[in-house]
Amino acid sequence: MLDRTPALNRVGIAIQSPRTVPRAYASASTVCRWPAPYPRSPMLAQLSDPHIRLDDDAPTEALRRAVAALEALDPTPDAVLVSGDLADSGDPREYAIAREILRELPMPVHVLPGNHDDVAALEAVFGPVEYEVDAGPLRLVSVDTTIPGRDDGRIPVERLAARLTGEKPTILAMHHAPLVTGVKPMDDLGVPGEDRRALAELLAGRPHVKRIVTGHLHRTMVGAVGGVPVFVCPGTHLQLALELTATAELPSNDDPPGYALHLLRDGEVTSHLVLL
Ligand SMILES: [Fe+2]
Repeated sequence: MLDRTPALNRVGIAIQSPRTVPRAYASASTVCRWPAPYPRSPMLAQLSDPHIRLDDDAPTEALRRAVAALEALDPTPDAVLVSGDLADSGDPREYAIAREILRELPMPVHVLPGNHDDVAALEAVFGPVEYEVDAGPLRLVSVDTTIPGRDDGRIPVERLAARLTGEKPTILAMHHAPLVTGVKPMDDLGVPGEDRRALAELLAGRPHVKRIVTGHLHRTMVGAVGGVPVFVCPGTHLQLALELTATAELPSNDDPPGYALHLLRDGEVTSHLVLL
């Protein structure tokens, strides 16, 4: 039986009982040290591309699993972003399903549109898709990169310029990634070079923009525009195969779905990928 009486180590600090030592500190080499305070980080969680469909339960179940994973996090994120393609066809009933699942989350949930979304139908359920909101000391700015009836995107850089103000550490969120992926079918559905260059110029004078987060590509990817790191979040359901020589549509594969956690620490953003 374990002796629960607090003991003292050589410098007179009470040793925690085995039951109360946090697991991360419970190795033989550290058990005698009181854990140093380590404050919680402000945190934005990101889900992407659920593609809810009326004729297939799999995307719905996958979104439920992703939401359950966020609910189980300790500490919980300050807010959640869903970075587009909530629906597969843009049917209002697909948004109703997405809302029913996402409303389980206790923190604010922000959405933005992807090329599969119907912006009006999405806004009817979730509200305006362009916003500047705070998640603790982090600012989240979203921009709509969709073009009605098309799968590629545009970045409304002039409109964005007026919205990327202030000095708060900012995450800029959009569906289409302002990257060249090196994979033709992905780049065919990306954003034009002139938009990427204009965005790079805009960001050069805005060092408070710490990260750009996107979806759309159904793979994890990292790049940069104007010196700002771009993080592409995998989907909550299907991922696309990495076929560097592909010229036509990419097949989905068995890569696991995932989500991201963007933490603010010492004025900078760190992005964690979590596989599901
Ligand atoms: Fe997309």
